[in-house]
Amino acid sequence: MKGEIDTERVLCEVDDLAEHPCREFRVGAGPWPLSGFLVRKGDDIHAYVNRCPHAGHPLNIRPDRFLTPDRSLIVCCSHGALFEMETGFCVDGPCAGASLTRIPIETLAGFVLLAEDVDPADYE
Ligand code: FES
Repeated sequence: MKGEIDTERVLCEVDDLAEHPCREFRVGAGPWPLSGFLVRKGDDIHAYVNRCPHAGHPLNIRPDRFLTPDRSLIVCCSHGALFEMETGFCVDGPCAGASLTRIPIETLAGFVLLAEDVDPADYE
């Protein structure tokens, strides 16, 4: 029904990103769900697959921690690659010039959701 929220696509509430600007999520069935994270910069929220283009590792070790101490860039904890928050583009490190894989999202009624046409299986 129009206006109803598909709860299977909900990643978090927008307010969940108010104090701490990053949040991990997993969606999808089977042994390899889509593992991603949200990052808020100003009023904009971006989502990326939690997989570094250098060696394929998850970017974080600690839950929901993806940023440099000054919160200006996304950092991979394995070998220190640095990525722009707005684009996922790697500006320094062993995969400079590569990019994180963006996941389309939308906000609706105070929630952050996977975009309607996203199939988590496409990101395996
Ligand atoms: S796996 Fe991310 S910098 Fe090497």
